[in-house]
Amino acid sequence: MNDILVTRSSMPEIEEYMDEISDMWESHWLTNMGPKHKRFQEELKQYMGVENIDLLTNGHMALELTLQAMNLQGEVITTPFTFASTTHAIVRNGLTPVFCDIDPITYTMDTSKLEELVTDRTCAILPVHVYGNICNIEEIERIAHKYELKVIYDAAHTFGETYKGQGVGSFGDASCFSFHATKVFNSIEGGAVCFKDKHLGESLYELKNFGIHGPEEVSAVGANAKMNEFCAAMGLCNLRHVDEEIAKRKNVVERYRSHLKEVDGIQLNAEQKDVKANYAYFPVVFEEEQFGASRTEVFDALAENGIGARKYFYPLTNTFSAFHGQFDVLETPVALHISKRVLTLPLYADLDLEDVDRICEIILQCKC
Ligand SMILES: Cc1ncc(COP(=O)(O)O)c(C=O)c1O
Repeated sequence: MNDILVTRSSMPEIEEYMDEISDMWESHWLTNMGPKHKRFQEELKQYMGVENIDLLTNGHMALELTLQAMNLQGEVITTPFTFASTTHAIVRNGLTPVFCDIDPITYTMDTSKLEELVTDRTCAILPVHVYGNICNIEEIERIAHKYELKVIYDAAHTFGETYKGQGVGSFGDASCFSFHATKVFNSIEGGAVCFKDKHLGESLYELKNFGIHGPEEVSAVGANAKMNEFCAAMGLCNLRHVDEEIAKRKNVVERYRSHLKEVDGIQLNAEQKDVKANYAYFPVVFEEEQFGASRTEVFDALAENGIGARKYFYPLTNTFSAFHGQFDVLETPVALHISKRVLTLPLYADLDLEDVDRICEIILQCKC
């Protein structure tokens, strides 16, 4: 029996990719906003249902440069139940993260605890649509409006989703997406920012190209975060198949749910009203006392059978040694509770449904 990894990158048929890249041997245009970059950007705009979008090398640079383009100072309210990138983007901009706890059902920012964290130093809110679960957008935007704060969504997990019929990237001042190889949709490495304000778009465009403003002017200290043509070509190919891939992921998720729903001590991801889901992850929270085994015991049992699950997100970003004990993890008790108990199970479009049955059998055997 082959090992099963937690994810497997989607790839087009090799002929499709070869066909897409072949004209580059004539043009010799490999990067710097070439024709594939332009076409990919246009196609994404349509698919994602957004007005403005810019492409970058990855989701992290999307976050980091968006914050830089906004020219912010002070504190940014965010959550620690996320990937390192979210918090790093804040800190690398010289901003201070202030951690809000998460909701125990959606794992996104608990907006009932958000307003009390706003101070006169707060400049922005950076919530994360965790596992594809959409944040409480109405409440976040109400509070942001009241205190004149920017809202930047970490939308790395939400490619292709809609909320109340609108592309999820159209909310807030900006939404940052990741097209990393492990995501629902990939361009090998890649990312994008969807934004409202055209001026923000202009700054972002310059910042991803060293801050170059014109042939003889460099007006900002930018980075190099331009998506190259090979990545854009991969994105163009994968975009043709993404709906089919999401439909297959849905089947996998339904098979998992059929085995694991209503098992004592297991919490599955709740389906959200008004959301067209992308089935990005299948997180399971194990409550040891009711289930009879801990998350780590389940993780080990799966590993012994060649099955990779992921403690995602663990550890919380506010516990990273990189921050030298600067933050108090006890201020986010729900995030701490979930991060110690959650496992994401293998999920990708071509995961065999019989493998899902086997994974669930191993999990249920841990129950005593
Ligand atoms: C929540 C979250 N934010 C940001 C990122 C960063 O994206 P990337 O890996 O494309 O830089 C990721 C993914 O890796 C992520 O999961």
